[in-house]
Amino acid sequence: MPAAQNATLVSVALDAAQAPPLYVQLFEQVRDLILSGRLKPRQRLPSTRALAKDLNVSRTTTLAAYEQLMSEGYIEGREGSGAYVAAMLPEDLLLVRTRSDGVAFNAQALDGIDDREEKTQILPFNSSGQDVRLFPFAEWSRLLAKSWRSPRPELLHQQRGFGHLPLRRAIAAHLRELRGVECTAAQVVITSSAAQSVSFLMRTLLGRGDTVFVEDPGYPTIYRALEDLGAATVATPVDAQGFTVPDYDRPSPAPSAAIITPSRQYPLGMTMPLARRLEVLNWAEATGTWIIEDDYDSEYRYVGRPLSALMSLDRSGRVIYVGSFSKSMFKSLRLGFIILPLALIDRARDTLYTLGTSASANAQPALAEFIASGQFAAHIRRMRRIYSERQQSLREALDTELAGLLEVPRQSAGMHLPVFFSKELAARISDTQARVLLAGADVTAEPLSPHYKEMKPRQGLLLGFAAFAPDEIRAAVLRMAQVLK
Ligand SMILES: Cc1ncc(COP(=O)(O)O)c(C=O)c1O
Repeated sequence: MPAAQNATLVSVALDAAQAPPLYVQLFEQVRDLILSGRLKPRQRLPSTRALAKDLNVSRTTTLAAYEQLMSEGYIEGREGSGAYVAAMLPEDLLLVRTRSDGVAFNAQALDGIDDREEKTQILPFNSSGQDVRLFPFAEWSRLLAKSWRSPRPELLHQQRGFGHLPLRRAIAAHLRELRGVECTAAQVVITSSAAQSVSFLMRTLLGRGDTVFVEDPGYPTIYRALEDLGAATVATPVDAQGFTVPDYDRPSPAPSAAIITPSRQYPLGMTMPLARRLEVLNWAEATGTWIIEDDYDSEYRYVGRPLSALMSLDRSGRVIYVGSFSKSMFKSLRLGFIILPLALIDRARDTLYTLGTSASANAQPALAEFIASGQFAAHIRRMRRIYSERQQSLREALDTELAGLLEVPRQSAGMHLPVFFSKELAARISDTQARVLLAGADVTAEPLSPHYKEMKPRQGLLLGFAAFAPDEIRAAVLRMAQVLK
């Protein structure tokens, strides 16, 4: 692999064994030196003869490369005095290749960054989802292939309605059966996520500056979505029964909404008892507040039957149900849904007309069949058993290894366990510092305190257990104990 000796082109190296042809390799390398600023405008280049000698290639090669550089405007020839880098390079060419702070564009390094993001490893106790190693991909890919072998034309055009009708029917049937929600496909809107459902509902129900009550602590993604929409959020404390009912005095005649997680409060994990549910419904009716029921992981209850949704108790049409497939399928599927009260269907159609849909139609037919054929319910049943064991393994390991440092609540639902710092641990370290130290021991632990908005934050960690086998859980708890002790 001959390399140039001449100082200006010292980095050029050609390899006859590699494609493309040598003259193209030379052209590309000189062009890149110019674009990255390492060869400066008006800088003199070696003669084609000298360079050929230097690189141990024929002069035809160097001549062909220089001709190409010249015809594309990178270099200029001066009669009798050789070749120079062009004095004026097309400006937009340089702007494309050079960052505004003057740092040379380094495609390889940027490629590397993307690569690292792609490969992010899911370490215990990442709480973002379920164990995808146990997902029935053979069946899922069969359903995807089937729906795309000869796709129905409407799937390929701009999506105008509330989503793929068979999927909306399947969701309505699933919720009627499992959660007691009396609804039909006409009330179901397919969205791309819970956060998008909330934005959609805000635009349907409220204007900028209208009041939205949010749970404190709560889900920061939703806080951020509301801030983006210009809503006036009112942080509402959560007690042992969940969302506490605010004052009956309306702050203003403007409409208002409350976003709550009655089935399993996020992030603390308690379930709202019936008496509190009825209190919330009475308050909503009396004050004209819309209740958005965020039901993000209620499929996973490990004792008794699945809970009835708050929407199933609502007689005044004020509850809107928001569901997501992020936890029950997998996060990157990016499909969620809304169940609207009948009175809101027309208003939602207007919103959809303005915003368009953001949910991709690609996987909707496959998901419809996955649910309608009973495979979704079977998958959930199977995972419920597995996750229940995993939650038990986590609790036992924490009780054995970290007793006295962490308080572990008794919960038998969900995919993450919130654990609280003892006074002693909280005096030594904050939960955000703990996250950094634990990351050094290959443990991912989401701190609890950033989930608080205005209430005094408790120090703790959210430990996702669903995606990890019992031995992975025990090994990670041992690493945690080493760090926290
Ligand atoms: C409280 C809460 N709501 C909703 C969701 C679902 O979010 P999305 O559908 O935006 O992925 C999650 C997921 O982690 C959550 O924690």
